[in-house]
Amino acid sequence: MHAVSRSSSAPDPAAHYPEVRSRTEALCAPLETDDYQVQSVIDASPPKWHLAHVTWFFETFLLKPFLPGYEPLDARYERLFNSYYNTVGPFHPRAQRHTLSRPTVGAVYAYRAHVDGHMTRLVEQCAPAHRASVGRRLTLGLNHEQQHQELLLMDVKRNFYANPLYPAYAEAPPAQSAAAPAARWLDFPGGIREIGHAGGAFCFDNEQPRHKVFLRDYRLASRPATNGEYLEFVEGGGYARPEIWLSDGWSTIHERAWKAPLYWTQIDGEWHEMTLTGMRRIDPAAPVCHLSYYEADAYARWRGARLPTEAEWEAAASGEALEGNFVESGLYHPRAARGPAEAQWFGDVWEWTSSAYAPYPGYRPLEGALGEYNGKFMANQYVLRGGGCATPLSHMRETYRNFFYPHDRWPFTGVRLAADA
Ligand SMILES: [Fe+2]
Repeated sequence: MHAVSRSSSAPDPAAHYPEVRSRTEALCAPLETDDYQVQSVIDASPPKWHLAHVTWFFETFLLKPFLPGYEPLDARYERLFNSYYNTVGPFHPRAQRHTLSRPTVGAVYAYRAHVDGHMTRLVEQCAPAHRASVGRRLTLGLNHEQQHQELLLMDVKRNFYANPLYPAYAEAPPAQSAAAPAARWLDFPGGIREIGHAGGAFCFDNEQPRHKVFLRDYRLASRPATNGEYLEFVEGGGYARPEIWLSDGWSTIHERAWKAPLYWTQIDGEWHEMTLTGMRRIDPAAPVCHLSYYEADAYARWRGARLPTEAEWEAAASGEALEGNFVESGLYHPRAARGPAEAQWFGDVWEWTSSAYAPYPGYRPLEGALGEYNGKFMANQYVLRGGGCATPLSHMRETYRNFFYPHDRWPFTGVRLAADA
C-alpha cells in the first residue's frame, strides 16, 4: 500500500510527528519480545521490521538528503529496512525478514530514538529553501507510518493465528447481542460525477487528479454484508458452485482448500473466528471480514448482485460523515451496525470494489525514488474503499484508494453489494 501527494502538506506536520511515532509504539505495547520476530507467512512482516522500516523511511527520505552531517546509527540498516525501493538500492528479501534476529528489539527502539532526535533537529534547523520539500515528505512519512500501524495489526493477527495457542493481542470487549439492521438498497442517480482528490490537503498521488466519470443509475447495500449473511453462502454450498466463481477464484479456492473466510474455523460444530482478542464465536450481526476479492465477487453473484465500482462507492460516500469503527475504538474488529441509518461507509471493513487499481486519467507519480511508493503497483490489484477497524481515523479520506491482490485476505476486507438500478 503506498503513495504521496504533490498537493500542499498539513499545516504543521512536525507537530504530529511525536503523536504518530508514539502511537506506533503504543500499538506494540501488548507484544512480548518473542512476538516481535515472527513472520508466519511472507505477507506478514515481523513487528520489529515494521518499527524499523517506518524509521528507515524518515532517515532515507528526510535525514540523509536534508540534515547536513547526519550520521546513520548503522549504515547497514539502509539495506535491511528498505522495503522495495530499487532506486535506493538492494534490500533484504521480504520473505527473509524473520531471519533478522539482530538488530534486537532493543536496538530497533534505539534506532527509532536516534532518528527521532535527528528529526527534531531537522525541523528546527531546516534551511528555508528546503522547508516545503521537508514538510511534504514529513507528511508523507507520517501517513506511511500510519499505513504500517494497520499493517502491524494485520500481521500480528496473522502471526497469532499461526500459533495453536491463539494468543490475544487485546482484551475482548463485552459481547454484543444486537441483531444487524436489515440490509436495504440505497438508490443513486447516474450521470456525470467527479471523483478523486481536489488538492488543498494531503492525499496520496494515486488519488489524483480529480476527474469526471459517467455512472449509470445504481444501488448499493445500506451496509456491508454480515457474518450471518455470508454463513448462508458458506453453508448453502457457495464454495462448490463453479458458475458463480471467476476462473482464477475457482482455481484459488481449490489450490488453497478455502471453504470459508480466513480465520473462520469450526470448534465443536460452531463457527468461530480468530480475532485480535483471541478465538471467538462468530457474531452473525457483524460485517464479514477477511474475504478475498474472489470470495467477495462470488458472494455478490450468489446474491444476484455485483461489487460496486470505486466511482460508484465514492460518489455514494461523498459528503457522508467521516466516522465509524476505526483503530481508535480499540475493538480491533468489525462491529454490527447500530441501526438502519448507519451505513458503515467508513471503518469496520475495507470494501472490495470491482475497479482495477489503475492510474486515474492524467496520473503522475512523484519524481525520484518516492515515485516507487504507489505507481509501480498498478497492475493486477483491485481497489478497496472506506477503511477498516485497524485503520487510523485521521488517515482516512473518502477518496482514499487502498489496493490488494485478489487472493489477499489477511487485510480487514469485506463486501458491500451493488446492483444496477
Ligand atoms: Fe512501507
